Amino acid sequence: MKKLMMICVSIVMLSSVKASEPIQPIVAEKSINQAQAELGKKLYFDPRLSKSGFISCYSCHNLSMGGTDNLKTSIGHNWHQGPINAPTVLNSSFNIAQFWDGRAKDLQEQAGGPIANPGEMAFTHELAVHLLGTIPAYVNEFKQAFGTEKIDIDKVTKAIAEFEKTLTTPNSRFDQWLLGNKSAISQTELEGYQLFKNSGCVACHNGPAVGANSFQKMGLVKPYQTDNQAEGRIAVTGKDSDRFVFKVPTLRNVELTYPYFHDGGAETLAEAVDIMGQLQLGRKFTATENAKIVAFLKTLTGEQPKFMLPILPPSSYHTPRPQPFK
Ligand code: HEC
Ligand code: HEC
Repeated sequence: MKKLMMICVSIVMLSSVKASEPIQPIVAEKSINQAQAELGKKLYFDPRLSKSGFISCYSCHNLSMGGTDNLKTSIGHNWHQGPINAPTVLNSSFNIAQFWDGRAKDLQEQAGGPIANPGEMAFTHELAVHLLGTIPAYVNEFKQAFGTEKIDIDKVTKAIAEFEKTLTTPNSRFDQWLLGNKSAISQTELEGYQLFKNSGCVACHNGPAVGANSFQKMGLVKPYQTDNQAEGRIAVTGKDSDRFVFKVPTLRNVELTYPYFHDGGAETLAEAVDIMGQLQLGRKFTATENAKIVAFLKTLTGEQPKFMLPILPPSSYHTPRPQPFK
């Protein structure tokens, strides 16, 4: 009886930890269509979906580097200088919408964008679909995954999106702490979390992704200085009040996803935290406070996706050849 009561008490304590915190643990997506995700993994790594035959999703969303390219802004076709910082694909299924301005409603809609973007993969949907159709092993795999012979762009983007749903990063030290393991984070990291919570960062960075669930103004208290042309959500809504409103980025794995902000303007976490404090909250953190928050943010690095590198099916005689310098 006593034992039972103790179990009950610990269950209550465990659930109260979770319920009272503004951040929840990341839970891996369970409903994955495995055949589509396996196909999507190949497509994600396949540079033949670009005009150059050299650029894949992986080029800019490198899974060895937190799902980003660690560049201020990305490099696209013909060394094109990208206009904006590449966000991580890790945990992107938690995003309220895709892109900094939220112009794609979900991962499938997003995945069609870069293939046809002249400054990214510089291909067209028609050419991509045609190309895949010349590779017998792909034709077979599409048939297995979707039950029909016909390849079209919807199936291509559906498969990629299904793969991206597998890119969650559970079991970070902070999540272990949320689930009741008090020794999973240090005293300094805990104090960093308390500062993060009590000074108001959680107003925008909350939920399982520690962000990604709302659009907010960048430069709420003081304006943000940048040469970058992006104006955020106004591009989608046309509303003046949405000027400089961006999707709040996830802070999961933020230790790995530098540089920070839509313009890649902050090189380090310390700098990003300092700017956030001043511009969003009107608060200048001391060096010690800043270091504590940074220490907390590093506890959000979770288990990175683990899988074998996919081996891509070879081109056939009919497969259009890469055009890297056109
Ligand atoms: C040349 C670099 C480049 C390539 C190639 C590329 N991306 Fe991106 N990706 C970006 C940039 C830059 C953004 C942000 C664009 C914006 O918000 O306007 C982005 C945004 C995204 C987002 C939205 C994430 C978020 O938090 O809003 C996802 C998901 C994504 N890309 C997946 C893909 C997939 C899938 C492919 C391959 C089909 C791909 N990307 C190819 C650079 C690239
Ligand atoms: C009013 C909402 C709001 C508050 C409060 C807020 N943030 Fe942010 N945060 C944002 C937005 C919006 C961005 C993206 C801004 C951009 O890229 O221009 C962002 C970006 C960040 C980034 C960069 C992430 C990346 O991948 O680029 C970090 C780190 C960050 N915030 C930490 C904090 C910390 C720490 C606090 C508290 C001191 C805080 N934020 C308070 C809205 C907020």
